[in-house]
Amino acid sequence: MIRTAIYPGSFDPVTNGHLDIIHRGKHLFDRIIVAVSKDSHKSPYFSLEERLSFLRTALKGTPGIGVDTFSGLLTNYVKIQKACAVIRGLRAVSDFEYEFQMALMNRRQNTRFETVFLMPDERYTYLSSSLVREISRLGGHVRGLVP
Ligand code: COA
Repeated sequence: MIRTAIYPGSFDPVTNGHLDIIHRGKHLFDRIIVAVSKDSHKSPYFSLEERLSFLRTALKGTPGIGVDTFSGLLTNYVKIQKACAVIRGLRAVSDFEYEFQMALMNRRQNTRFETVFLMPDERYTYLSSSLVREISRLGGHVRGLVP
């Protein structure tokens, strides 16, 4: 049986922290689908096509990893893909409350998968897509933070 996990998010843009989580997840699952939400409550800076293109380029040639989009509830997408888990990254204690709430709400909708939390390398614990966008917009260096 192939064990599939979904790694959902906005990826606006994908960072080296996200990639670190994906590579860690590869040791646990046969297949990971990196799923870009079309219905995020955030207004993205990069278009959906740009975000998908960044992900596809960064993950090109990595076996067992797919890139996709989803709309509507994550729990429905998990069912459609017959996934057994959703992967989320936990960078710091501050992520916990939001992630815990989302994991339990998702479990309420669909009890047939688990949310698995992975911690990125310490180098990426302070990294976020919005900080990368701001540094770049103000002319700073983002080398080492994004692929
Ligand atoms: N490295 C770097 N940054 C990371 C990271 C890591 N390992 N893990 C998380 N982040 C950052 C992201 O860059 C992002 O930063 P930003 O806020 O500055 O842009 C932030 O943490 C969280 O973003 P992300 O992981 O992309 O999640 P999200 O909160 O944008 O997306 C969804 C959440 C899409 C998974 C959620 O809204 C969803 O499931 N939507 C579908 C609808 C649904 O089912 N809703 C009910 C939910 S209970």
